[in-house]
Amino acid sequence: VMCVIVCLIVGYLFGCIQTGYFVGRANKIDIRDYGSGNSGTTNTLRTLGKTAAVITFLGDAAKGLVAVNIARYIIIPYFGVESEAVLWLLTGFAVVLGHNFPFFLGFKGGKGIATTGGVIFAFHWQLGLICAVVFLIVTAATKYVSLGSICMVLIIPFMLYFAEPGNLPLVGVGVIFTAMAIWRHRANIDRLIHGTENKLGQKVKR
Ligand code: G3P
Repeated sequence: VMCVIVCLIVGYLFGCIQTGYFVGRANKIDIRDYGSGNSGTTNTLRTLGKTAAVITFLGDAAKGLVAVNIARYIIIPYFGVESEAVLWLLTGFAVVLGHNFPFFLGFKGGKGIATTGGVIFAFHWQLGLICAVVFLIVTAATKYVSLGSICMVLIIPFMLYFAEPGNLPLVGVGVIFTAMAIWRHRANIDRLIHGTENKLGQKVKR
């Protein structure tokens, strides 16, 4: 139990490292006051441009990757708990929670897609690659980043099921990832339905 708690706390704190927010601060804005109000890569791209977006993506993906590896190679071995894949993924979910609800920013953060990519990549790099491919194909084809994100999270439980058949707790955590991401995209889904979602390449005035 102690091991799980430490993994979750460390994951959450890593998640709180809000790359997009810090990049915005470096540009003297609160990124959450612009565009979609989100602190992630997409909103950084439309508000601050490509370099800012690349930095945000790398930072947000890296924190997922690093936190999962810390749990896997340091925390879990320290407690001598058998290294359960489900615990790695739970740590990853805590990172997404920290990213989406950072305590020091009034719990207003991002949608956790880049971070989820980093987590899945740390878990099984092959699955991370599949996520990236699905995301890129749908986003490139439709020009809706949100739709690419939603399609990417929808396949996660299925990928986990095929990667580790029989590990139902693992698939369960995957379903939680999907549910959280879809819920965070509810405004995007509404805009997609009404045909008013922002397209890739649209810029925001600031
Ligand atoms: O990863 C977030 C993306 O799917 C949508 O971002 O800013 O358009 O809500 P945004």
